[in-house]
Amino acid sequence: MKTLIIVTHPDIKGSAVNRRWIEELNKYPEKYVVHQLYEVYPDERIDVLAEQKLVEQYNKIVFQFPYYWFNCPSLFKKWLDEVLTYGWAYGSKSGYKMSGKKIALAMSVGVDEHEYSRSERYKYTLTELTRPFELSFEYVKADYQPLFAYYGIELNSSKEWIERSVPLYLDFLNAL
Ligand SMILES: Cc1cc2nc3c(=O)[nH]c(=O)nc-3n(C[C@H](O)[C@H](O)[C@H](O)COP(=O)(O)O)c2cc1C
Repeated sequence: MKTLIIVTHPDIKGSAVNRRWIEELNKYPEKYVVHQLYEVYPDERIDVLAEQKLVEQYNKIVFQFPYYWFNCPSLFKKWLDEVLTYGWAYGSKSGYKMSGKKIALAMSVGVDEHEYSRSERYKYTLTELTRPFELSFEYVKADYQPLFAYYGIELNSSKEWIERSVPLYLDFLNAL
């Protein structure tokens, strides 16, 4: 079964990493379905029923986005707020439509990995900082997986550094 990749990037034309990842995923249409929220909803008005129907079709779903302000771009948060409704995602016997689905985050990150540790600048790891996503997906009984992160884009946005991320991301997706 294919993996659904839900991408949230507010400026995909200006993106280096996420754009490259999408380009790569589109080479394997038999494996990946890329759904770009800002492309589908330029006015940020999410079609909740369409999103729910889409999610229902896949057992593996990856949310790909650039890390912004120690969080996700706002349209992904809006997606969570609006799509994970009572009666569909949780809260009734017929709900829990995401139950058992493998869910993972895939993020591009500006600063270096070592900065995200107890003894360094940001004090917490990305696994810790993304706990609200983990808790939300556990709440809807999904099978939340360890995240994929590619760090250091602000320090090194060379073609070599970006290309290095591509096989790592594909390996991560294959192992999901
Ligand atoms: C609005 C904004 C907020 C950002 N906040 C963070 C942050 O909190 N931590 C971090 O490591 N990088 C941060 N960055 C850097 C982005 O994560 C980085 O530019 C992005 O992952 C690169 O991916 P792209 O080439 O696909 O745009 C921020 C960038 C922008 C534009």
